This record gives sequence, C-alpha cells and structure tokens, in this order.
Amino acid sequence: METNVVKIKLWGIDVGYLSWDKKLGVAIFEYEPSFLEHGLDIAPLTMPIDSPRSQKQLPWTGNKDKLYHGLPPMIADSLPDKWGNSLFKAWLRDNNIPAKKTTPVDHLSFIGSRAMGALQYDPAQKLGDNSAFSVDVQRLYEFAKQVLNERKTTVLNQENSVLWQDLIKISSSPGGKRPKVILALNKATGEVISGQGLIPEGFQHYILKYDDNSAYPFSKLEYIYYRMALDAGINMMPSELRAYEGVTHFLTQRFDRNRNEKIHMQTLAAMSPESDSYEDIFAVIRRLNLPYEDSKQQYLRMVFNVIARNVDDHSKNFSFCMNRDGIWRLSPAYDLTYSVDLSAPAYANRHSLTVNGKNEDIIREDLEIIGLNNDIQDYKALIDTVANAVVNFEVYAKELGLDEKLIESIKADFVMM
Ligand SMILES: Nc1ncnc2c1ncn2[C@@H]1O[C@H](COP(=O)(O)OP(=O)(O)OP(=O)(O)O)[C@@H](O)[C@H]1O
Ligand SMILES: [Mg+2]
Repeated sequence: METNVVKIKLWGIDVGYLSWDKKLGVAIFEYEPSFLEHGLDIAPLTMPIDSPRSQKQLPWTGNKDKLYHGLPPMIADSLPDKWGNSLFKAWLRDNNIPAKKTTPVDHLSFIGSRAMGALQYDPAQKLGDNSAFSVDVQRLYEFAKQVLNERKTTVLNQENSVLWQDLIKISSSPGGKRPKVILALNKATGEVISGQGLIPEGFQHYILKYDDNSAYPFSKLEYIYYRMALDAGINMMPSELRAYEGVTHFLTQRFDRNRNEKIHMQTLAAMSPESDSYEDIFAVIRRLNLPYEDSKQQYLRMVFNVIARNVDDHSKNFSFCMNRDGIWRLSPAYDLTYSVDLSAPAYANRHSLTVNGKNEDIIREDLEIIGLNNDIQDYKALIDTVANAVVNFEVYAKELGLDEKLIESIKADFVMM
C-alpha cells in the first residue's frame, strides 16, 4: 500500500497535496494555489492561507510529535485514535500489508471520504460498495469484540467477512479510545443504517459509543453527565441511551454533519498544538475572534469538568467548527463524563489541561481568576449554576439504577465549590 501523494478536498474544492518524505519521516503539504482564493482559513493558527509560506506555495512540514504522526496537525485530525487504529491494523493484516511499510499518508488514503469533519482524501482505498446498509448494532459490536480479541483465530467465512467490511466502513474513522460506530438514524421510522456516504431523506448522522457491558456503567454515566451539562447551560448535541439486547449504549448526534452536508471540524490539538491549559483555549477563542457566547460556553465547560471530575479533558476533547462561509465557532461539548479511576492513585487522575497552572486540587479561587482574566461576565454566578446542576447527579443516577455505592463514591469525589 504505497500512496505517494494524496489530494485533500473540502466541499468538492481541491485544498492541497500531501506526500510522505521517507527520509525525514514526516509529511509535506502544499496548498493548491486556487484554494487560497476561497478565503477558507481551514487551519488559521498553524497554516494560515494568507501567510507568506502559503502564498508562495512553499511546503508545510508535518509535526513529529507522536500525537500528529508526522502530519500537519490539521490533517492528523482526520486519523482515528486507539479504537480506529486497531481496526486499521487488523485490516492491514487481513490484506497482507506489512504495517511497517505503511505511512500515515496510506492511512489517510484508507480513510478516504470517511474522515470526521469535512476533509477528504483522494485516491481513496476502495472498500467495496459505498451505498448505505442497514446495521444490526449489537451483532456488529459482538463481532468487533471477537475480531479484536481473537483476531488470529477468527475465520472470516462468507457471513462474517461481510460484517468485517461493514465494521471497517463505519467504525474505523472516528477518534477516541472507546469503540464506536457512525450511524444514520431515522427517528420517525426507527431505521438504523450506516453513517458513511450519502444518507436518505429523513435520516440524521449519529455516533454510537458502545458500552462493553462490564460492571462499570460507561454509557449511563456519560448520559447522566449529558443531562447535568444541559442543566448547567452547556451546549451539547441531542443524545440518548439506546438499549440493544439488554446492553445500553450512548448515542449522540454529530455536529460535523447536517444531513448530507459536511462541516469542517478541528480539535484543539489540531487548531493549536501547543495548548495545554484552559487559558490557552480562551486565547484561541480570542485569536479566532469568536463571539462572547463561545468564551462563556468554554468557561462553563471548564467549571463543569473541575466540579464533576471530568479529568480526561485532553486537547482532542475540545473542538472548533467552520461553516462554508469560513466562519469559525466553538463546537458543542462532547465526551463529558466521570473519568476518575477510583482505584488508581491520585496522580493518575489529574486534569490533562491545567487551570490557573494546576491540574489537581483546583479551588474556587482558581476558577474565579480565570473568569476575571478572560472577561467572563458574572463568572461567580456561572460557577454556582454549574455546581447546582451537578447536584442533580444523584437523582439522575438513581433513575438509571446505578449501584448505590458507586453513586456515593462519585458524589464524594465532586469538588463542590
Ligand atoms: N457529537 C459529535 N459530533 C461530531 N464529532 C464528535 C461528536 N462526539 C465526538 N466526536 C468526535 O469523535 C471523537 C471521539 O469521541 P469521544 O471523545 O466521545 O470518544 P472517546 O472514545 O470517549 O474519547 P477518549 O479517547 O477521549 O476517551 C472526538 O474526539 C470528536 O472528534
Ligand atoms: Mg474523547
């Protein structure tokens, strides 16, 4: 699988070209000159279209940091994380392609038009028919677990080789460590089909995050956090729990799709690779000239993560979206959940982003300083609003039948301000 160059496309427009420099072990990107005239600043802080480098068609070199696989951060965002990578590796094995000879540019060609957000990669690896197919959610998950646990022994007969292809098509592009599939749902009829390619009238795009049905209620907790976040005034896509054969999964509508329209999306990691604090997010919001509402949203999310102990607040758990007019906004919040491992030592449960220079033992004063320094109106009242919303944890958790002991230990871990 040696892809020398991929062309990057956005909304049918040629954006540029990406190749892999074997010697340097990095990718080289160049904008297509005509793209620069559209005024679409798709990576405004790392590869601005009006910079001399872009204007003179000089190449942009990829980022060697592990997080970016040698790709420019804007493009690295199209590659998946743990879950999608393990599927890609299994697919390579299945096709007798040595992983060692595969570059991130090959991986992008495999992703093709299935990337999250709106960027597409051409040529795309052919994965058979691109039309929508109906999805048996639970069966596909059972199969995914089987494939990944016993890959070497799973015999791909005619029936499960179809399942395998289906899984690759709808599960190998989203990021994150947890298993998930991209689906399209018709709320009126209840039909569930694959979420890649064009979807028929009446359908919308969703991500289903699978629960592994272990003792720990991942999906239910994420749903409880969704409800608390809404109570706190945090903007999130409509989400719900879906039970299939007794197992409850978390379903969330995609903000990078509006029916068949793709919305350009960049994580904080892609937008601003050096960001490692909440203050840095506010700085990005200012540099992008986003409206005050986005600063306020970001403030609520920071306070929520601190109070409700979502310590998994890494730079891929915040995003920005750009519409077809080139206007950037903060994306809706996602992946909000209780992410402390109660059995791990305290240092393993530190926040990924710092708050006022700290990633643990954050107090109200720290939140207030950030509110003050970033011109957040009524920041004290916003902290109280979030704290009041988090109080609802117990009610929501009991409604879903969570174990009493777990409820108590999570409640005791909240940082009530
Ligand atoms: N509603 C959504 N619409 C569009 N993209 C989304 C949505 N929710 C999540 N994503 C994208 O999918 C990625 C994975 O989702 P999410 O963070 O929920 O998964 P996860 O496996 O729990 O992640 P982590 O590895 O952080 O635990 C996110 O980083 C984000 O880019
Ligand atoms: Mg995540």
